[in-house]
Amino acid sequence: MEIKKVCVLGGSGFVGQHVVSRLYEQGCEVRVPYRNINRAKHLTVMPSVSLVEADVHDPGALNKLLEGMDAVINLVGILHERKRGDFQRAHVELPRKVVDACRATGVKRLLHMSALGASQEGLSRYQRSKGEGEALVLAAHGEDLAVTTFRPSVIFGPEDSFLNLFAGLLRWTPVFPLGSPHAKFQPVHVGDVAQAYAASLNNSATFGQSYELCGPKVYALQQLVEFVARVKGMERMIWPLDDEMSSLQAMFFGLLPVKLLTHDNYLTLKTDAVCACPFPEVFGIRPAALEAEAPAYLAGVKPQRFERFIDESRDR
Ligand SMILES: NC(=O)c1ccc[n+]([C@@H]2O[C@H](COP(=O)([O-])OP(=O)(O)OC[C@H]3O[C@@H](n4cnc5c(N)ncnc54)[C@H](OP(=O)(O)O)[C@@H]3O)[C@@H](O)[C@H]2O)c1
Repeated sequence: MEIKKVCVLGGSGFVGQHVVSRLYEQGCEVRVPYRNINRAKHLTVMPSVSLVEADVHDPGALNKLLEGMDAVINLVGILHERKRGDFQRAHVELPRKVVDACRATGVKRLLHMSALGASQEGLSRYQRSKGEGEALVLAAHGEDLAVTTFRPSVIFGPEDSFLNLFAGLLRWTPVFPLGSPHAKFQPVHVGDVAQAYAASLNNSATFGQSYELCGPKVYALQQLVEFVARVKGMERMIWPLDDEMSSLQAMFFGLLPVKLLTHDNYLTLKTDAVCACPFPEVFGIRPAALEAEAPAYLAGVKPQRFERFIDESRDR
């Protein structure tokens, strides 16, 4: 059966809006639950996308959302807890409810968002909760439910909260104290992630599989921050903190009401977010390069201006 009707949980988020757009382009009818219409209203311009106000944690509401759907994509996730137990609720309990709702409503296809480094033995609560959620979703794979999970490195794109966050923070200080400067990432473009989801939906070769998704190149966090500063044309001194100072910085930031960084994030950064293999061939995608895509949205300038930076990065 060709999948035509898809419910996207977390469709209002950064990755979600790209996944929803890709499914729309592919001719799908898409149902997106939302909590806050202001976070989702940009999706209303696509005629075959319907927005439904719903509490996805309520099993009855979830069953209703999934009724008549061919597939569900679960992108719900958080980086910071507002209160203890939030990771468990979003990354473990919700995936379990989604599996139950698929069984209750006869939905036979489930795509689930995990993350590189997700593991039940992970150092951070984020990693352990993501690992537990992914494991239970993969364990649900069977004849009645075809499951695929995705484990991306950090995702970049016009609305990302990674490079854009550093772009914002760098404005405020000539000297930038950077925690975990040696943490490794292999950033993957949001368009490639969305395409992998769209390509996986009907492809039985991906059933029961888990895929790591990375871009073409590995960077240390410090290189990425230096890249952002150059793109923004800002002369900044990046001050790399040692491990002890990085931990203290994360603890301090974790106490602030606005959560930019927490000690749990610091622990997550201790595991390199780097893929063991190139982008999975099954999706037929050549992943986009950070240097080719990010300058256009970070600074509104043409990537050619950064050829020198690219050459320098290659030499490192
Ligand atoms: N961005 C990355 O670099 C990255 C890397 C690896 C994995 N991931 C994973 O990819 C997924 C999407 O990430 P993103 O960057 O798109 O995040 P995002 O922009 O923060 O979007 C998260 C989505 O989940 C929804 N959500 C969050 N907490 C919820 C809750 N308690 N109940 C119901 N809905 C909730 C949000 O709804 P509202 O709009 O109402 O807030 C939003 O639709 C997450 O699972 C994340 O862990 C992201």
